[in-house]
Parts: sequence; C-alpha cells; structure tokens
Amino acid sequence: MCGIVGYIGKRQASEICLEGLRRLEYRGYDSAGIAAIRDGQLEVRKVVGKLVNLTAALEEAPLLGNVAIGHTRWATHGKPSVANSHPHLSCDGRIAVVHNGIIENYSQLREQLQAEGHRFQSETDTEVMPHLVEKYYEGDLRQAVAQAIEDLEGAFAFGVICADSPEQLVAARRFSPLVVGIGEGENYIASDMGAIRPKTDKVYVIGDDELALITTDDIELTDLALNPIEREIFTIPWPPEAAEKGGHKHFMHKEIHEQAEAIHNCLAGRLSSPDKPIVLEGLGLSDQEIRDLRKVVFTACGTAYHAGMVGRSVTEAWARVPSEVDLAAELQVRDPVMLDNTLAVVVSQSGETADSLLALRDMKSKGAKIVSLLNVVDSSIARESDGVIYIQAGPEIGVASTKAYTLQVLTTQLMALYFAEVRQSAAPDQIRTLKEALLALPDQVAELLAREDDVKQVATHYYHSPNSLFLGRGVNLASALEGALKLKEISYIHAEGYSAGEMKHGPIALVEPDLFTVAIVVKGLVYEKMIGNIQEIKARQGPVIGVANDGDNVIADQCDDMLWVPPCPELVSPITIAIPLQLLAYHIADMRGEDIDQPRNLAKTVTVE
Ligand code: AGP
Repeated sequence: MCGIVGYIGKRQASEICLEGLRRLEYRGYDSAGIAAIRDGQLEVRKVVGKLVNLTAALEEAPLLGNVAIGHTRWATHGKPSVANSHPHLSCDGRIAVVHNGIIENYSQLREQLQAEGHRFQSETDTEVMPHLVEKYYEGDLRQAVAQAIEDLEGAFAFGVICADSPEQLVAARRFSPLVVGIGEGENYIASDMGAIRPKTDKVYVIGDDELALITTDDIELTDLALNPIEREIFTIPWPPEAAEKGGHKHFMHKEIHEQAEAIHNCLAGRLSSPDKPIVLEGLGLSDQEIRDLRKVVFTACGTAYHAGMVGRSVTEAWARVPSEVDLAAELQVRDPVMLDNTLAVVVSQSGETADSLLALRDMKSKGAKIVSLLNVVDSSIARESDGVIYIQAGPEIGVASTKAYTLQVLTTQLMALYFAEVRQSAAPDQIRTLKEALLALPDQVAELLAREDDVKQVATHYYHSPNSLFLGRGVNLASALEGALKLKEISYIHAEGYSAGEMKHGPIALVEPDLFTVAIVVKGLVYEKMIGNIQEIKARQGPVIGVANDGDNVIADQCDDMLWVPPCPELVSPITIAIPLQLLAYHIADMRGEDIDQPRNLAKTVTVE
C-alpha cells in the first residue's frame, strides 16, 4: 500500500508533502520521494528506506516551489531502490507521477513505448504512466492524463505534475483510494485523509475513473471524457490530533485504549435501551428482504475475517438464517452454491482490501445483495455495496487492527439482533438480555483496560517464548485465531490459533515447556471440554494462560497465569476476550522491542491481491 500526498498553493510544497507523508508512514513502505516545480523546472529527490533519509536529502538539497507530489512506496513490482521509487519521470524529465495500485498491462505498454523511443529507468509498472502522459501531452495536462488512463488496465491512484503546466496538479483514480483536500488559497491530494487532516477537514473523495484538475484556487472534477462531475464536500469527522498518538507510545496502544469509547460511539444512535428496537441506518434491506433471507455469507481478510466468524455464529444463533463465512481470497475461487435472497456481508476496516472488494464483486455478479461493515467512509467497498454499516471506530493507524476488530464484531451482533427482531426468530426476553449485554460493554471494556498492569505482568513470563498456541471452541475459535494473529504480527513469535477440539488431531504434538498456550475458557457451552484441553497440556509440561470469567478458581487452579474477563453471554464474549489478548500481544511485542505500529513486511491496507 503506497502513500500519496500532493500540494499546490503559496507555501513551500515539498515541506507540506513531507509532513503529509509522515502521517502515512504507518502504511508500511520501503522508499520515498518528492518532486516539485519551480521557475519552470521540475526536480526530484528520492531515497530508499525511511523518511528520515528523505528529510536529510531535502536538507542537503532543498526542493523549492509551490507545487509538489510526494510518495512512500511499498514495493510490488521491482525491489526497493532509488530507481524504482516514486515519483517517476517522463523522458524529458518535465512530467512526474506518483502512483498507488497495480497497472496490470504495464508489460505490453512498456514494450510499445520503448518501440516508440521512450527510455525507462526502473522495473516498475508505474513508470509507463509518465511516458504515456508525455506521449499524449500537447499543452493540456488533464487531457493527456485522461488519454493515458484510457490505455491502462488495473488499479491506480495518480498524482501528476508537469513543468510546462506549473499552475496545475492533476489527480485520478481507479480502485485505489484518493482524496482532494480543500484549503484556502491552496489544495491537496492524499491517499488517506489522515495525511492532510491537520491542514483541512474538507475533502472531495474522487470516484473511480474520475479526474481532478487542481489549481491554487480551484478544483474541477470530471470523468475521463472530461465531463464535469458534482461531488459533495465530505467533512472529516475526527480532529487533527486523532491522527496522532495522543501521548501513547504507539498508535496501537492508543487504539486499544479507545475501545470503551469507540464501542459507546458504535452503539450510539443504534441501541439506546434494552426496551427499544435497534436502528441500523444504511443497512439497505427492507424488513421483507430480511424476512426472506435464505443465506448469509460473511467474507473478509485477516482480523476482519475473524469478526466475520463471530458474525456467522450470531446470525445463525439469533436470526436463524443459514450462514457461512469464507476468506475473501477463497470465496472468489470457490464458486459457492447461490440461493435466492442470499446476503453477502463484507467486513473491512479500510474498505480498500483488494481480495474483499473482488469477493464483493463476485458475489454481486452471482445475484447476492451486498452489505458491508466498514470503518472508512466512502471507501471503494462502500461505493459498491447495496448497504453499509459504518463501525464508527475513527481512524485506525496501527497496522495491527484492534478497535476495528471489536467494533466489527459488535456490528455483526447488532445486525444479527436487528434481523432477529424483524424475523421474530428469538424470544423477546432473549433479545432484551442480549441488548443489555451489548449496552454493558463500554463499562466492561473500560474495566478490562484498567487491568492492563495485570496483563503486562503476565507478558513478562512469556515474551521470550518462541512458540505459542491459542485455543478456543465455538464462537471463541474466532477469539483464538484473532489472539494468535495479534501476537504473531507484532511480536514475530510463532502463534497458532486452533480449535481446542482439534488438539488430539495433531497440535498436541507441539506441546513442550517453551510453547505457551492461551486457553479461552469462559462459561458457556464448551466450558467443560476446555478444562479437559488444559489438563492434557499441563500433563505434558506446557504452560497455560487461562482466559476465564472473573473469580473462576476452577480454571485458575489449573493454569499458570490468568487473564480475567467479566461475565457476559458467550456469543457476546469475543469482544471482552479480545481486550486482554490485544494487551498481551502489545506488551510482549513491546518487551521484545519490536516496531509495533509498522511491523515488518506488513501494510495497514492490502490493496493488491
Ligand atoms: C489485522 O491486524 C491485520 N492488519 C490484517 O489482517 C487486516 O485485518 C486485513 O488486512 C483486513 O484489512 P481490512 O479490514 O482493512 O479489510
């Protein structure tokens, strides 16, 4: 996932671009660069590695000028190198392009352009774009960009500047996110609103195959045929500091601690009392469609997939609709049997995950209605859904998803309860009890966060371990998989989530003293069976961390360490269980000195397959 920032106005453009790129660092990158225009000349500074290297290059040789584009690159085509970093230039060096996405037909375009005399400096797919713009440029930069895009297949968000049109910045997108920031006497582009939020809270979200011609005082939105497009101005709902760490050591720590408030915000306007019906704006389904539902398919990637697992469980349990959940990458190649009145629920924090968007399109093409559970407003998945429920988590900067996960789970529970009310598939007193449990979550999560020091103490016993196993059953298999993912992706400890019922079918062979096991054993349908699993592990000298309900000494007597959670209905418990497991992963990774907000090899949003 690459980062794009651009500026045109009266100030030093390169400084503003660099500041914006710093707010995109969380996306993961391996090189960076900025191009700026001054006195009819275009200059570029590009580096491998982190932005500190670019800052040094700019201090050594400042980039002056009032229009610039900047980029942080996460390598897809071509290794991390100065030549492969963006911005890329045309042969004459007068056109510069930054790009996020993948140009799928770049090979044949490159051959064609080389045959026409263009000389390439990099191995990237992106570099075909400045040469195409150069090919079509006859004085109208926007026209040349539009023509170049007609030749492209694949996904892109572009920023383009030209030394012969220094009063213009052109932006365009297909599939990859891009916004135009609206300033006073200056304007911006960015691949993520957080990059420019301290400068403005007013943006246009560019649509697919749309262009923006941006000058100091004006923004024109058009389609590829340059027909004007009207778009509402979107006001970014969160303050500038929301994109900063707010005193926490890491964004991840800040976001873990935002969860009590975030859960409250997610419930607000939707569930206010156990005696009132749930309100789900944006769902996009009539009551009759909900009554007619014959199948619900959840699909997502990574953490969002684990939330989808909970969604499958609660939809079947409460709404009594046959439900399934599948990894987005798998759903596309499975060719599922479709029934009339099938609903596909796409779960995604970013709303830009390539596999999830492709799974959405596949299910839509097969006749399913699409509802997505998202965090980012007007994202690509949002725009292709029939209905969207926003989880209201606020920006999630840490690569490891925390508050988005618990809110994704909560949103599936709200939706399942809403369906149950419409379908009258659960007894009113059961629905009331579940609503009370959801309404109690903000206080319960606040209490769990207040226990952080106890979790940190447990982490001191295990941060040196090379291997771990997370075990759960039923709805909390999802909790086990999610707990394992959290630990592995930020601490680099091998962590495997597994159904506890599968222990005898293989994993128990792994048990030894330096492999610790987290066993999720809250009161519910599988409580007794989980005790058996703990005993099997202890009999083989495996240390066990029990996750159990407050005061459960039966479990405490069997385990080496405990992570306590307050009692709640088992199908609601993935939310409370997630909190100590997030904190455990965080403190283990912190004790190991890892780069928690930007784990190696990972990006916040995976916009390529
Ligand atoms: C979770 O900690 C990871 N960062 C990753 O698994 C993430 O959940 C996955 O890439 C899906 O992202 P999305 O929710 O933005 O679609």
